[in-house]
Amino acid sequence: MLRYVFFSGKGGVGKTSMACATAMHYARCGEKTLIVTTDPAANLSDVFEQRIGHRITPVDGIPGLFAMEIDPDIATREYIEHAIEPMREVFDGETLSVVQEQLSGPCTVEMAAFEKFIDFMGETGYGKIIFDTAPTGHTLRLLELPVEWSRHIEESARGSGQTCMGPVGLIIDNKRKFDEAMAKLKDRSLTDFVFVMHAEESSLSETIRSMDELRAIGINTSRIIINSLIPAAEAVHPFFRAKAEAQNAVVKKAEAVFAGLPIEKIELLDDEIKGINMIEKCAERLFKGGACNEKY
Ligand SMILES: Nc1ncnc2c1ncn2[C@@H]1O[C@H](COP(=O)(O)OP(=O)(O)O)[C@@H](O)[C@H]1O
Ligand SMILES: [Mg+2]
Repeated sequence: MLRYVFFSGKGGVGKTSMACATAMHYARCGEKTLIVTTDPAANLSDVFEQRIGHRITPVDGIPGLFAMEIDPDIATREYIEHAIEPMREVFDGETLSVVQEQLSGPCTVEMAAFEKFIDFMGETGYGKIIFDTAPTGHTLRLLELPVEWSRHIEESARGSGQTCMGPVGLIIDNKRKFDEAMAKLKDRSLTDFVFVMHAEESSLSETIRSMDELRAIGINTSRIIINSLIPAAEAVHPFFRAKAEAQNAVVKKAEAVFAGLPIEKIELLDDEIKGINMIEKCAERLFKGGACNEKY
């Protein structure tokens, strides 16, 4: 049964809005639901209009819904500490500081966030976990590097008969967690990968590119949401009519390119998606009136 939903797409296309609407829908349908974001802008607080932050927090007014905003700084500190910990007894201070320096790039921040994802993909007690902002194919590829590296350590430990099994054991443990998470990400019955886009050429090509990147590592997209379409009734003024026509052309193209994939079309609402009433409006459109037996 579907348990994880990841939202991908460029900044500003509506990932957070669609993720919040999806999370509200599942919670209302009686599933204990968690929504997690790694976006440093931490805007779940804005959407739900309450303080959330780097800990799991019940969402006011939506029983069964919990939210967490992963703080990239805290997560990165935790990640580096976790990565260096097993090396402390094996390497000297100089080597450790080299490793520490190597772990101070932007990819570490991404990996740290993904380590959090992995934690949430273990046993959690939630029926559904919604991830606002998914790891990209690029991030997932980076994660294969430490796996190679751990394999190398494992082999050399075995070859030389050295018993640094404590640290190696820990790395192997992490690798197992990572492998399990990757297997879950690739399992279509367990995980949905949703791309949100605008009906614009640049957004379409970006979506195609990111989907290809994911496909290359064995992850298939489950559906597409084309967001912020101008409602037909509003396309009367020449300016909006022209805009709507341009959008329709891209929608047609998307339907041809993504043939076979479900495509959800969401209109531009008359206000930003903030507060329970607006999230609800959005959820009704996304889940066609809110029926619980429907997957979409
Ligand atoms: N269908 C929509 N109608 C009206 N406003 C929208 C819609 N979708 C998103 N928005 C607004 O657009 C902005 C960006 O959306 P957001 O969900 O934060 O995007 P992302 O998470 O991809 O950066 C927000 O202010 C949000 O309220
Ligand atoms: Mg967002």
